[in-house]
Amino acid sequence: MGPFEFYNPTTLIFGKGKLSSLPAEVSKYGKKVLLVYGGGSIKRSGLYDQTLSLLKEAGAEVTELAGVEPNPRLSTVHRGVELCRENSIELILAVGGGSVLDCAKAIAVGAKYEGDMWDFVERKAAPEAGLPLGTVLTMAATGSEMNGGSVITNEATQEKMGWGSLYAYPAFSILDPEHTFSLPKDQTVYGIVDIMSHVLEHYFHLDSNTPVQDGFCETILRTVMETAPKLVEDLNNFELRETIMYCSTMALNGMISMGLRGDWATHNIEHAVSAVYDIPHGGGLAILFPNWMKYNIDVQPERFKQLAVQVMGVDPAGKSDKEIGLEGIEALRSFWTSIGAPSSLADYDIDDKDIEVMADKSVRFGPFGNFRKLERQDVIEIYNMSL
Ligand code: NZQ
Ligand code: ZN
Repeated sequence: MGPFEFYNPTTLIFGKGKLSSLPAEVSKYGKKVLLVYGGGSIKRSGLYDQTLSLLKEAGAEVTELAGVEPNPRLSTVHRGVELCRENSIELILAVGGGSVLDCAKAIAVGAKYEGDMWDFVERKAAPEAGLPLGTVLTMAATGSEMNGGSVITNEATQEKMGWGSLYAYPAFSILDPEHTFSLPKDQTVYGIVDIMSHVLEHYFHLDSNTPVQDGFCETILRTVMETAPKLVEDLNNFELRETIMYCSTMALNGMISMGLRGDWATHNIEHAVSAVYDIPHGGGLAILFPNWMKYNIDVQPERFKQLAVQVMGVDPAGKSDKEIGLEGIEALRSFWTSIGAPSSLADYDIDDKDIEVMADKSVRFGPFGNFRKLERQDVIEIYNMSL
């Protein structure tokens, strides 16, 4: 293990009926609330009406920012910042999936900053304050509900980049698995791939003596793999939704990161694809992750063997570590395909035309990845393997 400090300020409020906690939570922060949501799913599910009536109960004055896009855009963040200033907002309440939460995080720090919030994404400045943020999550995927990360797309420059800050952690997040019942099958699958990818980004590290962390990762992966095939056939099953929702939060709230440095190259490679093609994040990961794994198996074949044996159920008898590892990668690919995830860039009609552009975007801050540093040419190879 490496030395570490751990702090997570988010109050996690989890379970059936927990939306009822909203008035008490809101009252801690003030009356003037900016309600941030997406393209309308919360209106169709009834969650919008429920939220408004609970906000009314808390005596809140509500300003709305509707229409946050999947892969949320900087222009929407700017609109939100203006609304905060015009209405002296005291609390931002994000109701939706990771995109809505990420947009709300950017608004929260942008409202307390005189310059353009994009400065934080470009690492030209660091947030020094943020408005309090509460969330009601409707999609299990990103872990954004309990972390300080956010990913924003600058549509003018076709850049999609992550940033993070202590000031971007939600003060509270309400997670009722029933709020994910209305999530369609394809988005449910993208979420499942994203959750597994977050665990895999942690799993491929170079730190030693991490048996507990590795075990946490393997348990989450096995649990998701047992649950997901049942869930995609039974989208309104509370227990299955509950398990996946809990896995998504645990996969990226710092619990499995203690004492190790995960890789995160595949996320960077994927963000460059969705910057140019606006594809769903989980769909991109399903295509790219197995190819990142194949490309890097020689760094530490025994790590890939461990994954194959402990999670993918590969029989190791009579095989080399690399052969076992490769079987594990194929098993992961087959699993994702079996639940309906895409497996090649062609599934999104993406050919080799923009590979160089995407590779340039991925190395914007230089070579990246902690399990193995990738240069521009490595990224090009991985894109080519993914066509
Ligand atoms: O916009 P609405 O109408 O709400 O519809 C959304 C959207 O179309 C819909 N949806 C969400 N909950 C629903 C629902 N539809 C019906 N019923 C529900 N209960 O699903 C669509 C996708 O939503 P989105 O929020 O975009 O998905 P997700 O949660 O996967 O978030 C993706 C974004 O998060 C970033 C990704 O890059 C991407 O921009 N990430 C954020 C991270 C973080 N903050 O820690 C880490 C991740 O690795 C990821 O990069
Ligand atoms: Zn992700």
